[in-house]
Amino acid sequence: MADQAYVTLATNDDYAKGAMVLGRSLRNHNTTKQLVALIGPHIAEPCRATLSSIYDEVHVVDILDSRDTAHLALMKRPDLGVTFTKLHCWQLTRYTKCVFMDADTLVLSNIDELFEREELSAAPDPGWPDCFNSGVFVFKPSIETYHRLMTHCVENGSFDGGDQGVLNSFFNTWSTADISKHLPFIYNLSSIAMYTYLPAFQQYGHEAKVVHFLGKVKPWNYSYDTQTGKVKGHTLTPGSSELHPDFLVQWWNLYSSGVLPALRDSYGDKPFCSGCSEDKTRDSVVETIQAPPPPQDPPMSSEERKQRWEAGQADYMGVDSFESIQRKLDCFLK
Ligand code: UDP
Ligand code: GLC
Ligand code: MN
Repeated sequence: MADQAYVTLATNDDYAKGAMVLGRSLRNHNTTKQLVALIGPHIAEPCRATLSSIYDEVHVVDILDSRDTAHLALMKRPDLGVTFTKLHCWQLTRYTKCVFMDADTLVLSNIDELFEREELSAAPDPGWPDCFNSGVFVFKPSIETYHRLMTHCVENGSFDGGDQGVLNSFFNTWSTADISKHLPFIYNLSSIAMYTYLPAFQQYGHEAKVVHFLGKVKPWNYSYDTQTGKVKGHTLTPGSSELHPDFLVQWWNLYSSGVLPALRDSYGDKPFCSGCSEDKTRDSVVETIQAPPPPQDPPMSSEERKQRWEAGQADYMGVDSFESIQRKLDCFLK
């Protein structure tokens, strides 16, 4: 279908790797739709070339940044102000209908049936299910809607500092008006679902059609051993939670087989960080230019931790991660 497209966004080279894997996963599952990537102006040329080999269209867009440090701090994600850039997708008016997908999503089967849904269809957010998660949503490009969204941003801001806050207050009847606009959770299975509701994850997780690596730690923060096909620890703060190992391996398998060869061709002799540990020379060159890990939060007393937990501010990615809880349970059971 030439007038329907999947759309994603990458403002930097890391998210561009995610977009490459997402695009490959859509192609591997034989989508009949067009693939469109919106990219920031600072994406490296070889990444842009690789994206162009996977996507039908690659558009450079201006970065829109909420600069709302206060709300972003509440989410512990100061980096997400630039997700306002996502809103450019409403300008793609040569398409009559689109599905936006975050660059940290991975498609596990054909999902073209999503185009039977209307704007704005999305799955519930695992943290607050009366809000939708804006990592996967069906929308109808329209310049009028784009301008109304921009006005809404200026007049009301965003309650989370990112696009999801804006979109939920703009499409504010989503939770009550029309159940057909509620996508089943399997179209946006967030990686934290296994921390929040493990039995449901065990029961339904295998039906997942889209995995969303939601949260601070992303697949590309890990490294991969091409010899063993195993994923090794990530480069972020020690103690941050781990992503689901099976989905993580699927992401890396696709990255190493379906993306990396094209990326290497595009980079030629220029160094880049492949994330694969067999690639000694390249990675050692690049290690010196990698950003230092983010500073660790100061240790918290167990009383403070309990208060935060009771206030709904569990540190799912850190001390309250599934692994930590499991370790504790194992310890009691022993
Ligand atoms: N994004 C981006 N650059 C950034 C941060 C985010 O291009 O620096 C885009 C990317 O498509 C990403 C989406 O915005 O998937 C939302 O951010 P993220 O997935 O990190 O948010 P989360 O789903 O973890 O809340
Ligand atoms: C979310 C969504 C993501 C969005 C971010 C900022 O958790 O997963 O797509 O960009 O919040 O609003
Ligand atoms: Mn995401």
